[in-house]
Amino acid sequence: SKKITIAIDGFSSTGKSSIAKLIAKKYNYIYVDTGAMYRAVTLFAKQHFFVGKDFLDKEKLISNLKDISLSFQFNKQLGFAEMFLNGKNVEKEIRTLEISQLVSKVAAISEVRKKLVAEQQKMGEKSGVVMDGRDIGTVVFPNAELKLFLTASADKRATRRYKELIDRGDKVSFKDILFNVEERDRIDSTREDSPLIKAKDAVEINNSDMGIKEQFERICSLIDRKL
Ligand code: C5P
Repeated sequence: SKKITIAIDGFSSTGKSSIAKLIAKKYNYIYVDTGAMYRAVTLFAKQHFFVGKDFLDKEKLISNLKDISLSFQFNKQLGFAEMFLNGKNVEKEIRTLEISQLVSKVAAISEVRKKLVAEQQKMGEKSGVVMDGRDIGTVVFPNAELKLFLTASADKRATRRYKELIDRGDKVSFKDILFNVEERDRIDSTREDSPLIKAKDAVEINNSDMGIKEQFERICSLIDRKL
């Protein structure tokens, strides 16, 4: 049967990955979480090229990009792929608030984007892929058959992210999460290279007041129309 490319973009914590995982499972597609890739590069930068919280030695990071090897390995028990950085499982480490506070700065660097976009295009070469991020429908797969753009109020998004982090035992404050969600969106939307914007042909879904089931059904009907 026919397989398509599905691009999911949108603001942070709009539930892109939850939806993408459900789609991948139902249609037997490959799911690629591109945010995890930017987070893994950020973890590497944090380990080697960050001085304090705010200063990043960009030149050093750029000249060492070739030493960063990223891969996804499917975890049968979890039912999704985990992020590996230079052979090490970093799935847990990349989801902290600390990495969330640094990632937009790293993701704004063109050399970083160039490397990751090339890898993403390679992973999606064959179709039958659902990829989520910020520039999938605009830059990575401008010809994707289906493009979705997810939005929700900042408060709803921060509430979801807060719950996620608290559930895994992190000690974070709601105020810090809300600030981070809005700050990341601001940096991601205003950067020069591949800013977060809705592709002209993307279907926008505001899920502030939508459950996951309702969203999933709506998206499945959009997919089925393309098959
Ligand atoms: O999707 P997630 O929230 O994990 O993404 C983390 C960050 O990675 C985003 O805030 C953004 O700065 C960056 N990113 C990006 N382009 C993508 C995916 C993520 O710039 N395609």
